Amino acid sequence: MKTIDQLLADGVAGKRVFVRADLNVPLDGTTITDDGRIRAVQPTVAALAAAGARVIVASHLGRPKGAPDPAFSLAPAAARLGELLGADVAFATDTVGDSAKATVAGLGDGQVAVIENLRFNPGETSKDDAERAAFADELATLADVYVGDGFGAVHRKHASVYDLPARLPHAAGYLIATEVGVLKKLTDEVQRPYVVVLGGAKVSDKLGVIDHLLDKADRILIGGGMAYTFLKAQGHDVGNSLLQEDQVPAVQKYLERAKTQGVEFVVPVDVLIASGFPDLKTKAPANPDTVPADAIPAGQEGLDIGPESRKLYASKLADAATVFWNGPMGVFEHPDYAEGTRALAQALLDSPAFTVVGGGDSAAAVRILGFDENAFGHISTGGGASLEYLEGKTLPGLAALED
Ligand code: 3PG
Repeated sequence: MKTIDQLLADGVAGKRVFVRADLNVPLDGTTITDDGRIRAVQPTVAALAAAGARVIVASHLGRPKGAPDPAFSLAPAAARLGELLGADVAFATDTVGDSAKATVAGLGDGQVAVIENLRFNPGETSKDDAERAAFADELATLADVYVGDGFGAVHRKHASVYDLPARLPHAAGYLIATEVGVLKKLTDEVQRPYVVVLGGAKVSDKLGVIDHLLDKADRILIGGGMAYTFLKAQGHDVGNSLLQEDQVPAVQKYLERAKTQGVEFVVPVDVLIASGFPDLKTKAPANPDTVPADAIPAGQEGLDIGPESRKLYASKLADAATVFWNGPMGVFEHPDYAEGTRALAQALLDSPAFTVVGGGDSAAAVRILGFDENAFGHISTGGGASLEYLEGKTLPGLAALED
């Protein structure tokens, strides 16, 4: 994989360099609530601009339906990138139309532009190779060189991630190089005990990685909404908690396999419950009760791990040498259900382990809960991407940068 340093050594002055970033940041209206992904790509953009390239930054944001939708505009991200660079950043209001062409044509050496959300064009995410290729052809006319640095999107076989690099000389940016370097440490010679913490809503999103990690990890701690499918698989009633009933047999199979392979699965022993989902807008007090995880009453739903579980999880992390964490322990966006995720993050900081925090939600949680992100070994910008990497899958956006 050619690196950006090689590209810079070859010289990029005056060249139009297309940087595929992942600027998919959480927004409240037009306010960015966590700018981690923009900060993560800034060094690549800054280095290219300093070397005199004409930098075109492109990304998706959210999941618009292949047509312009102001709610998913990249304009706020472009403004934030400009603040971080301390320079004006031009903004094109389309992807390959008149605005993009004029904006790119107007770039001087060392200047930066952001083009509008790539997913406003149906070709970006199309499953039809020809439709994706047609969009990639149009994108290719904007640039002379391609730099892949949107780690969060490398698991997507999308036009700007997979098809475009085949059309231009290409290299990996600093962020992708760092992310892959760190994740290699978790797949090659991992230091033990290796503890994996998985949370988040859906167990179905995590089955692939669980399958793979059962051969790698020493302990797997389960939290978040997916924990209730585990509790159900162990024969407990979970009331109205989030449950993927159809995944119960698969989870039972993994629990059995873990026993034979000597991998310890840890599920919550107590949970915070309420009769409904909290209001995340008003954050009105939810006054949850704490109950043993095997005694969730009918009509109640579990929304965070309880105090005994927090202690248990901290004890299971205390002697770890390597930790990978993906997914919050509860509805951390509400203060009454943030303690599980906060305690988990604190336990990671207290453990001597090399810690990798993977993913949009858990990375945002760490920052939103006020932790110093530099205190963690590595905070990945990719949720799905880091999971698929750990599953051992070939990621289209990395494969495309290989040759
Ligand atoms: C992410 O948020 O994980 C990445 O930006 C990819 O977004 P996607 O899941 O909508 O493809």
